[in-house]
Amino acid sequence: MVTGAMLVEEISLYQTPCFIYNADELERKIKSAKSWSLKHNLHLLYAMKANSFCDVLEIFSPHVNGLSVSSPFEALWGKNFLTSDQVIHYSSPLLDFSQALKDLPLLTSANSLNQWNLFGGGIRLKFPGPFKNQNENEFQSAYDPGRKDSHLGVPIEEFTKYISHKVNQANLPQGLSWHSFCELKDFSEFLSLSEVLTKNLGPYLQLFQWLNLGGGFLLEEGINQEDFKKGLDLIRQYFTGPIYFEPGYDLVEGAFCLKTQIKDKIDNKLILDTSINHLPEVMQFKDKLVLKEEDPEGEQRFQLLGCSCLISDSFGEYNFHQTPLIGDELTFLYVGAYSMVKANRFNGINLPSIYRYSENEGYVLRKKYFFEDYCQQFSIK
Ligand SMILES: Cc1ncc(COP(=O)(O)O)c(C=O)c1O
Repeated sequence: MVTGAMLVEEISLYQTPCFIYNADELERKIKSAKSWSLKHNLHLLYAMKANSFCDVLEIFSPHVNGLSVSSPFEALWGKNFLTSDQVIHYSSPLLDFSQALKDLPLLTSANSLNQWNLFGGGIRLKFPGPFKNQNENEFQSAYDPGRKDSHLGVPIEEFTKYISHKVNQANLPQGLSWHSFCELKDFSEFLSLSEVLTKNLGPYLQLFQWLNLGGGFLLEEGINQEDFKKGLDLIRQYFTGPIYFEPGYDLVEGAFCLKTQIKDKIDNKLILDTSINHLPEVMQFKDKLVLKEEDPEGEQRFQLLGCSCLISDSFGEYNFHQTPLIGDELTFLYVGAYSMVKANRFNGINLPSIYRYSENEGYVLRKKYFFEDYCQQFSIK
């Protein structure tokens, strides 16, 4: 029997809807990325666009050589978590150098020769993609920075022509970056990219101060790293300076879940206290989330619906072994990357609170949003 006291304690662990992150898992991931970087002699940057929550930046910052950012706001926010020996790589289709950035330890990558002529710094390259195994489905293609029609970066053939004319002049880009992969597990693609890079730019690579491999890597320890090593060895035949890489997604995705409660039930439709606007990509790319309570073999199928007025506020259909009831909790797993940073308050529905979980401390409320936060977004004061 559950006593009143136990019930109160359990209920007060957290209130839905909420993101819960596992601090131990974040530590594990960043340490594993760090040992990956040491093993391959790379400088590790965290791409904070994946998740810019203060706790993430605090946990990661002691283990990284810096951050990768996409805007002045990210740069200024990220700087709060860095020490003076750490760098910030700023890369964006449209660089924006406000006065506030002038004292930051920035490496920059311009997306085009026009932008580079304006701002200097490094250049972002685009490789003739996609490499094999990419663009497997619509979802991946929507994320694939290396797809054929990508506007991200100067095509490497164009840059090779440009640099071969410029080579005797003093004013060269400081460094070269690219970001060509999306959830890459098979490093043969990285090896192919290294071959294209060295074939085109090999004789010129030593003219640059740094290289940056971008993100899009899955860095689990069990993955075969042989081709990654081969690709790096090839690049290092031509370039002996520092090489950065900047994963985002992989470092945070698995450490966060979204807890929600079933609030109503209409036939086989379950209405939740959250909305796809708390995880906007669900609708944008029709990607089904992993639900902890789902039993794929279960014979009962229910549609999970968000609580906004939007007819398509749906998380999709899930199978259950037992009939879910009003008041039951459900848990969407693997939502740490590109979710909190994109969540919105459509319909005035509040954003989920954020809790930290760790084995030592259990659940700790880290952030709760109030009506004032909503007003601040829409008021002019
Ligand atoms: C320039 C750049 N670097 C790094 C990343 C991080 O990639 P991921 O989160 O897939 O590891 C991105 C993602 O968009 C990016 O645009």
